[in-house]
Amino acid sequence: MLYFYKNEFIKKEELRISPDDRGYYFGDGIYEVFRVYNGQIYEQEGHMQRLQRSASEVRIALPYKLEDIESILTKLVHENRLIEGTIYLQITRGEAPRAHPFPTEAHPILLAYCNEVKRPIATIRSGISAIALEDIRWLRCDLKTLNLLPNVMAKQAAIDHGVQEVVLHRNGIATECSASNLMMIKNNVLYTHPANNLILHGITRAVVLRIAKALQVEVHEEAFTLEQLLQADEAFITGTTVEITPIIQFDGKPIGAGEPGQLTLKLQEEFERTFAI
Ligand code: PDD
Repeated sequence: MLYFYKNEFIKKEELRISPDDRGYYFGDGIYEVFRVYNGQIYEQEGHMQRLQRSASEVRIALPYKLEDIESILTKLVHENRLIEGTIYLQITRGEAPRAHPFPTEAHPILLAYCNEVKRPIATIRSGISAIALEDIRWLRCDLKTLNLLPNVMAKQAAIDHGVQEVVLHRNGIATECSASNLMMIKNNVLYTHPANNLILHGITRAVVLRIAKALQVEVHEEAFTLEQLLQADEAFITGTTVEITPIIQFDGKPIGAGEPGQLTLKLQEEFERTFAI
């Protein structure tokens, strides 16, 4: 696989990363994960806007113009002949001896590569189980930064409990999941946490809300509690890698009939039609 690192396209085996990269010491950087379907980058513009916003909020200057970053991604997909998969892109603040203040001399470093990844079709069709877990992250979850230790711990907690995902909550109010957004349906109304500082403003979240509105589904961007989630008719997670994956069991109890719900199936169908997947 051909990678992009520090101004050049390079083979993974030839790529060398310095321990002085601030991403390595401090998680001092930002990232995006893009989906590729049929050789095309899905919702590229939304990802680029979010990248730009994360960079500006953490005060990292993008090393290239947005259109040049887009060309790098296109070339990676093309050169690696990627039809179905993901692209990972990260930008760190640069290389400098370890010290907390922003280094004055460092230049931001862009790393990007793609992976062949199939859609997780089994869980998309059958659904997953989740448990509740306290959301111990910082108060800027809207920024896609490299500081993912709480997310990693959360995902592992799910695995340790024999389930696939956690529903993060602050004082009983559900926010999102370890690497996806959360939605529930009650009486044909779709609820999801507002896009504020407590959740990532997911690209798939926005796509699903768009699709729901087009289907005349009532959408409330309103926070809900864990108890409300337990009483929901349907629930699902959304994300670049998970698409729309139903949650059929929460904290050991079935959600709705304990199988993917009718509206969830309709949204999935429309999602697949929209992206021709
Ligand atoms: N994660 N919430 C969190 C905490 C996430 O990490 C992600 C995505 C999402 C969904 O966002 P989007 O629809 O834009 O993918 C929500 C990526 C895939 C990851 O970290 O691997």
